[in-house]
Amino acid sequence: MKKPFIVGNWKMNLTLAEGVEFAQSLRNSLSNSNKIICGICPPFIFLKDICKILEGSGIKVSAQNIHSEQRGAYTGEISALMVKEVGCSHVLVGHSERRHIFGETDSFINSKLKAALSANLKPILCIGEKLNEREDGRTKYVVKNQLKDNLRGINADRIKECVIAYEPVWAIGTGKTALPEQANEVHAFIRGILTGDYGEDIADSVYIQYGGSVKPENTGELMAQPEIDGFLVGGASIKLESFSKIIEAASNY
Ligand code: PGA
Repeated sequence: MKKPFIVGNWKMNLTLAEGVEFAQSLRNSLSNSNKIICGICPPFIFLKDICKILEGSGIKVSAQNIHSEQRGAYTGEISALMVKEVGCSHVLVGHSERRHIFGETDSFINSKLKAALSANLKPILCIGEKLNEREDGRTKYVVKNQLKDNLRGINADRIKECVIAYEPVWAIGTGKTALPEQANEVHAFIRGILTGDYGEDIADSVYIQYGGSVKPENTGELMAQPEIDGFLVGGASIKLESFSKIIEAASNY
């Protein structure tokens, strides 16, 4: 049984001072916990300070995005190498806000995933269907295509370093959570695809997180599902109180 992996995605929230205070308090509050793995995704310009605060704590720091190239004339972009250099271990790739607000395509996401792995960053690949896709009965079709397209050309031994976050787009920031059984069904479907493509050992070792309106009140019932290995938390991760409660509830599994 894997330890639950709980990651907080701050998105474009908090000031640097608030982020630093959060990281210090999180470090203090988790110093005795070895039941879960925890991570946070601060905005780019907080990363260096927060990596320093969390150094040696076991708490992972993840960037929220990277570009697909490692260097060059890409004004305003940040590369995987840069993020790695300041101390990050993970990076979100293909978050639904990147896909649907910023128009990122599956092939661009695939290039970013490769860039992350080549810089020795572990990608957290976010996939999930939109509301109309679920209503049309196309959830599995959409999720399968995203997974296959986004992981294309990546060797089996590197798949082990990837985390998959299943985040139904209709549940992100809406207060609507997928029913635990609904989420578990899609997680099992994702695990089945990974098993077919990379074998059972690798598929079993990959973390599959759920994301979409995770809060303290629904953590337990989601975590009780056998295929849910942890969470990618947005809104409830920017207050230490609610993030800590999620961590505590997940620690009981
Ligand atoms: P939410 O966001 O928890 O606010 O729904 C989840 C996410 O965007 O990863």
